[in-house]
Amino acid sequence: MATPHNSANLGDFAKTVLMPGDPKRSKFIVDNFIENPVLVNDVRGVQGYTGTYKGVRVSVMASGMGMPSMSIYAYELFKFYGVENIIRVGSAGALVKDLNLFDIVVAKCACTDSNMLSAFNVPKDFSPQADSEMYELAVSECERQKLPYKAGKVFSSDNFYCHKSVSERADEDALAIEMETTALYLNASVFNKRALSILTVSDSLVTGVETTSEQRRSAFLGMMKVALEVAVKMDGKND
Ligand code: HPA
Repeated sequence: MATPHNSANLGDFAKTVLMPGDPKRSKFIVDNFIENPVLVNDVRGVQGYTGTYKGVRVSVMASGMGMPSMSIYAYELFKFYGVENIIRVGSAGALVKDLNLFDIVVAKCACTDSNMLSAFNVPKDFSPQADSEMYELAVSECERQKLPYKAGKVFSSDNFYCHKSVSERADEDALAIEMETTALYLNASVFNKRALSILTVSDSLVTGVETTSEQRRSAFLGMMKVALEVAVKMDGKND
């Protein structure tokens, strides 16, 4: 079996898939954390790997950038590959002044200005939610690892470069801006699966500070460890 964007066979993916945006970041996660990785997909250079972390089977595959791309991969993983849990590990821009570079944001829910909502027949102001169990696990793991974090709503935008001010775009209570979480949470709810986004602040729309693309690739170890611990704790919950 294969899909238009995935050449893996049924059973090649673990029940839990970590999804960074960038294929090079998935390689980084695999090289640093995953034992005995096997390449299961290479369509369009989006390598998917399956291996183990602390003895638990985990897959890692990039989502690409933006909600259309995330939606394709999440849909196919949930619908055709038996995947139960997707954990996005991505970057986000801070929308509040007390989020610093490299702080973590655990996305309890996501709002958007995207037309993606209408494809799922939900109202424009609908904010899909993270899986509550994975969300609680991620928050406790941030506490345990003493990582600086905030938990709350994120804003998924269709535009990295935008000609409107932030206040014209995002809900007032959104902590950070990124481009994929709403689509991930919508797909999870349609298929009755679980999803969570854990994000690391790569820039601030409040102060204008930024990180380099190299830092974005490798400096997000805390978030990756949180996501992997959540994957371990979810083991056996979908059997
Ligand atoms: N906008 C959208 N997505 C992002 C940003 C941003 O400023 N920073 C990191 N991901």
